[in-house]
Amino acid sequence: MKTATILLAAGKGTRMNSKVLKVLHPLGGKPMLWHSVQQVSKASSEKPTVVVGYQAEKVREIFGEQVNYVLQEEQLGTGHAVMQAQAQLEGKADLVVVLLGDMPLLRAETIGRLIERQQANDGPISMMTVVADDPRGFGRVVRNQAGEVDAIVEEADCTAEQLAINELNISLYCFQADWLWANLANIPISAKGEYYLTEMVAIARQQGLPVQAEVIEDPQEAMGVNTRVHLAEAEAAVRKRINQAWMLAGVTVIDPDTTYIDAEVSIGQDTTIYPNTYIEAGTTIGEDCVIGPNTLIRGSQIGDRCQIFSAVVEFAMLENNVDIGPFAHLRKGAHLADDVHMGNFGEIKNSYLAPGVKMGHFSYIGDAQIGENVNIGAGTITCNYDGKHKHKTIIERDVFIGSDTMLVAPLKIGAGARTGAGAVVTKDVESGSIVVGVPAKKLKDVDTEGE
Ligand code: UD1
Ligand code: CA
Repeated sequence: MKTATILLAAGKGTRMNSKVLKVLHPLGGKPMLWHSVQQVSKASSEKPTVVVGYQAEKVREIFGEQVNYVLQEEQLGTGHAVMQAQAQLEGKADLVVVLLGDMPLLRAETIGRLIERQQANDGPISMMTVVADDPRGFGRVVRNQAGEVDAIVEEADCTAEQLAINELNISLYCFQADWLWANLANIPISAKGEYYLTEMVAIARQQGLPVQAEVIEDPQEAMGVNTRVHLAEAEAAVRKRINQAWMLAGVTVIDPDTTYIDAEVSIGQDTTIYPNTYIEAGTTIGEDCVIGPNTLIRGSQIGDRCQIFSAVVEFAMLENNVDIGPFAHLRKGAHLADDVHMGNFGEIKNSYLAPGVKMGHFSYIGDAQIGENVNIGAGTITCNYDGKHKHKTIIERDVFIGSDTMLVAPLKIGAGARTGAGAVVTKDVESGSIVVGVPAKKLKDVDTEGE
């Protein structure tokens, strides 16, 4: 059986009080709607259809070919939103799942269970409900004496008796496709001038057809996001799920309450994460690393057995056995090969540090290529910017840069050379020579006999 899925995401989400469309607000480092698209894609092999309206172009930009789009120009209700998808989906599937783009905690397994239920249902609709003490404005599920669903009544239209019902509509439905498309046009217009999808239940009942409803096992999945207060609640729930998944996969998280791992991150076995650490989307971390405390890693690749302590690592790459921090800052294009050591108060940008480079204290390395086993003395700076242009510094292998050396780029330091403490190096340095002073001049060749 083919199952089409429709995600409703055309509404602005007024209560977010935002310039940004509600379903594009970030959650676990990805747009809210991304989470639903992931789950729906796991539950059905058909490409999901997203009903877009407000900021439709932004949604298209983010999701590209991952989903199909249907435009709802005017938001005339959830039923009207589904009507917009009819031309595209009619005749293409046996079942149609409809859900909301602002329910990011819903799991694929739950959607799958609903699909199975509808496969076994002679009637045209199966739906999921939640039993909760706080109705949060949800529609009430009205059942008859036999326990069958008779209607969904929106909160604004409820009688006092109906308001007391604690079974709520979460807006996850599975319809028999032919019946849905044949009856969608029968939705009456509401007092508010909208077409409510919830009316499909009443339409089925008028035809004497049964509607099945299942109470969701984990009520948290039914959490809808309408305000930024709900967004923070959803964020906490997503974070908890992600942390639990990593712990079960073999990662030690010392304090899950203060560990912030985005979706789309990967972490290897026996890595330990200390508190107050942020690992953002697109980051991969290998095995046996120690990360944090007080660390932010963004869009970076980290190998095995690395140690990152109180550092900010942005769009950088660390190979294996690299240790950095405390108080280190790696910026875009920093690439540290095996066994590099970077101590406190360093910054590296757009530079390659070959295996075994040591940079212990207070240095800035930008637009540089540093050879194997180079020692960068405390306070060394690549002066890569002349006020107009950036220039490159090349340091060949086994160079010893004395403390507080200023490397005025463009510059090349030959293999095995040394600079004296406080040198301001403005000209290329020959391999094997020692330069000192301001501006630096050759003092002599490196004495290799005693070494
Ligand atoms: C809807 C249900 C309600 C249920 C609740 C669960 C209806 C009439 N009511 O109410 O029974 O308890 O969800 O969250 O269906 N949307 C569109 N186009 C529209 C209108 C809405 O795409 O024309 C999208 C919105 O982007 C939003 C979602 O559908 O994400 C829900 O719409 P909303 O109007 O907020 O319905 P609820 O009041 O939440
Ligand atoms: Ca809503």
